[in-house]
Amino acid sequence: MRYDVLTLFPDMFESVFGESIVRRAIEAGRVEIHVHNIRDYATDKHHVTDDLPYGGGGGMVMKAEPIVLAVEDLLGADLVARQKDTGRVEVPVVVLTPAGRTFDQRIAHEYGRHERIVLICGRYEGIDERVSELVATDHLSIGDYVLSGGEIAAMAVIEAVTRLLPGVLGDMRAIVDDSHAQGILEYPQYTRPSEYRGQEVPEVLLSGNHALVARWRREQALRRTLERRPDLLADADLGEADRRYLARLCDREDEDRNPQRS
Ligand code: ADE
Repeated sequence: MRYDVLTLFPDMFESVFGESIVRRAIEAGRVEIHVHNIRDYATDKHHVTDDLPYGGGGGMVMKAEPIVLAVEDLLGADLVARQKDTGRVEVPVVVLTPAGRTFDQRIAHEYGRHERIVLICGRYEGIDERVSELVATDHLSIGDYVLSGGEIAAMAVIEAVTRLLPGVLGDMRAIVDDSHAQGILEYPQYTRPSEYRGQEVPEVLLSGNHALVARWRREQALRRTLERRPDLLADADLGEADRRYLARLCDREDEDRNPQRS
């Protein structure tokens, strides 16, 4: 997998990609990350990359031309034009922006199937819309809050996609059990000691009974999802036993709220 990142702050990426799973993936030859300074593609004497917004309003807007030229230089103008014309995406060209669709594990898997991705990091009040019209194939947000730029969002996307690539994580079970891997949150984990400040590790985890452990973990994952992210349950892949367990939990909650009715 090759990532090309377009940014005005290339140094931001050094420490993050110099550590962690991404560094291991680079060292193993599994991914390449090329960080490009958008300023290098500005054609004027002062390498200007931003300007005032048409129509007024505060702040500055990133100019279209340096970004369009950078993407065409990396991918070739023909490929860029072809995927805009046909809608068939060969190399995703992704703008990181709070105005994008929300990035999630499903999109991480979708991107993991590509050989190459271009990530464009916005700054200031945004990017001239012609970048979206001429070169972008997608717009991603990492959540409903505003960062000072798309760099941290691009790092999040790269990390989430990279750890899904075959051979990057030593233990593939970790991926299967991850929060969001099956549409619900991950079950609680414990390690030694078995008692800490009066809090005991649930007995079932010490039992050595794999079937009971698996059932307990599934139920805890469902309970945690119901408590923290009930919105996920609507689309989760749930079996009959899962539904029965959730129904029992909801009944119990109702009883706790209205004790006089039971
Ligand atoms: N740039 C600024 N805020 C962002 C966000 N929430 N997601 C992606 N890019 C951003």
